[in-house]
Amino acid sequence: MRKIVINGGKPLSGQVAVSGAKNSVVALIPAIILADDIVTLDGVPAISDVDSLIEIMEIMGAKVKRDGETLEIDPRGVENKPMPYGKINSLRASYYFYGSLLGRFGEAVVGLPGGCDLGPRPIDLHLKAFEAMGAKVSYEGDNMRLSTGGKAVHGTQIFFDTVTVGATINTMIAAAKAEGRTIIENAAREPEIIDVATLLNNMGAHIRGAGTDIITIEGVKTLHGTRHQVIPDRIEAGSYIAMAAAVGEGIKVTNVLYEHLESFIAKLDEMGVRMTVEEDAIFVEKQEKLKAVSIKTAPYPGFATDLQQPLTPLLLKAEGRATITDTIYEKRVNHVPEMARMGANISTVGGRIVYEGPNDLTGAPVKATDLRAGAALVTAGLMAKGRTEITNIEFILRGYSNIIEKLKALGADIELIEE
Ligand code: EPZ
Repeated sequence: MRKIVINGGKPLSGQVAVSGAKNSVVALIPAIILADDIVTLDGVPAISDVDSLIEIMEIMGAKVKRDGETLEIDPRGVENKPMPYGKINSLRASYYFYGSLLGRFGEAVVGLPGGCDLGPRPIDLHLKAFEAMGAKVSYEGDNMRLSTGGKAVHGTQIFFDTVTVGATINTMIAAAKAEGRTIIENAAREPEIIDVATLLNNMGAHIRGAGTDIITIEGVKTLHGTRHQVIPDRIEAGSYIAMAAAVGEGIKVTNVLYEHLESFIAKLDEMGVRMTVEEDAIFVEKQEKLKAVSIKTAPYPGFATDLQQPLTPLLLKAEGRATITDTIYEKRVNHVPEMARMGANISTVGGRIVYEGPNDLTGAPVKATDLRAGAALVTAGLMAKGRTEITNIEFILRGYSNIIEKLKALGADIELIEE
């Protein structure tokens, strides 16, 4: 079993570069199935989700060449056949294959997705959109078949009563080559949605309004190849900014799009975090006193649910008592007992997280329960006195590329060990 071992309490300093956005690239790669030529992606992060997606693409018949952060994908050999169940089940974002296979073949047979344990993560809104576009949904064992019965998917007008990143992106992908126009109302507005729309438009799609709550897609017959730079990962950036404020003595976080983090930065300002926003970087100074603040997550541009856990260790350093409410995933609290094992005064009361600081943390054996909980435990381990051992680290490696190397370069005493 692999684990991360940290000897904490050391001040860190230097520079850390943010990689390409996981929540964009996990949609960009499946979307390339729609192209009738080679598509090249630059700025692809070195995360295990990308490894899994490349494996699935190759099993489906695509040719993939990887050179560092550049992926060259030739989708012309992709066949309309059932997706590999085992691989699909390990990756929640595999649902994007539904949209691209439907968009290209009018059919998709996939295993039902797995992913992080954030409570039930349904896909009913994805299916609602696909049915509205002419697909019928049937279940065969662990597989689900979406099929238009050989016709192309057709445009539709769909209103999502829950703001959903995945279903918004999946509908956009399925609609790119549909017959007619698709209008998505109450669409999610995350930057990753704009990134996927940018790729599709550069392949010849006609998508307007991505990033607003109404997206219009005029279906086209063919989509050609292109080259695309993945946007920086705003969640990785926020995770490192919070870590820099918690244990840093001057850390520059580079490859940051400030406009993707406005609600997060506003909260840090409210806490009294001293930092300087530069062109595409944020310099975080050594912090003095910080004020406890309450957090309430919301769809973009609100405070990201993915950042409430990575911010928690910094909150624990602040003076005062406050709450964290995740309105997107009320069950996203599995990191709380792990933090408490490190001596933190934090608990879950009626679906809300309540904490009081300041806290001096002590190293302990803890386990990552999902990706962002894992990131929070890494920062807590860097803050804590003594040795912290984190297990279930596969979650962390899914979304934080080269995290050990990046933290070692800042002076952290951190190792990934095999037992
Ligand atoms: C994306 O998940 C992200 N994952 C998540 O990041 C992120 O937490 C989430 O958006 C919210 O911002 C990827 O992009 C791969 P949703 P997604 O559809 O698309 C409900 C991380 O840490 N819902 O926006 O699956 C759902 O239960 C991960 O990087 C339905 O009810 O999230 C949730 O309460 C974790 N039916 C809400 O909508 C559906 O069909 C928002 O989910 C779909 C979603």
